[in-house]
Amino acid sequence: SGQKLITLNEVSSTNDYLKDRLSKSAPFKEGTVIMAVDQWKGRGQRGNKWLSEPGKNLTFSLLLKPTFLNIERQFDLNIAISVSVIQCLQMLLGNRILIKWPNDIYIGDQKLGGMLIENTISGAEWKESVVGIGINVNQDHFGELTRACSIKQLLQEEYIITDLLYELCGRIEANYLELKATGISQLKSIYIQHLFGHNQVREYSIDGVRVLGKIIDVSGEGHLILDFQGHHASFDFKEIVFVF
Ligand code: BTN
Repeated sequence: SGQKLITLNEVSSTNDYLKDRLSKSAPFKEGTVIMAVDQWKGRGQRGNKWLSEPGKNLTFSLLLKPTFLNIERQFDLNIAISVSVIQCLQMLLGNRILIKWPNDIYIGDQKLGGMLIENTISGAEWKESVVGIGINVNQDHFGELTRACSIKQLLQEEYIITDLLYELCGRIEANYLELKATGISQLKSIYIQHLFGHNQVREYSIDGVRVLGKIIDVSGEGHLILDFQGHHASFDFKEIVFVF
């Protein structure tokens, strides 16, 4: 709280903007937020694009400096941020909001938002984390993106984008302080409670082969742990695809 908000009318990507400034030694404090009205080259995970109509949605990046976390515990930050988004959206939309591992936000089988967290590590030290969050707020049409939806489509009314930003930053701050003070366990249990597909038998694609499995947990390094009829296996981000 009380940190700096920079609103850009247009930018390629708020994550790229913040990372570029940091690499040129911009003296940004922890808690600095870069928000874009028109982000025209937004990036998602797995090299995907993040498309957002100008002025319609929340697209921002938050600077954190989680030097208190061991670099092996990068997924803890991911959990704290995901839980913050979930809690914030639940206030608006009820508890049908889920986290699709590792950090997409879903309602039913439709995507409402996503996160792209990019960390800078120097030597064995965690220096900075650029936490990029995109949430579909007032967009009405998604064209070919048939599994995308917005808050407006769900509530049948517009929502004020900056209100969502402030609520979300408040949640992130509270959960970040909790992570710092007491560790991950409480946040992790909330994450698991709202995990898409948890304890359900669903179809997954592994090395191009379709299999039925059940998500049972997420490991400390953030690997997804599945049960296949009593046999357990864990997967990295690139190793497993959800089949819809
Ligand atoms: C995903 O769905 O794979 C993650 C999407 C993350 C989008 C946000 S919008 C603000 C920030 N800037 C970016 O270029 N990406 C993130």
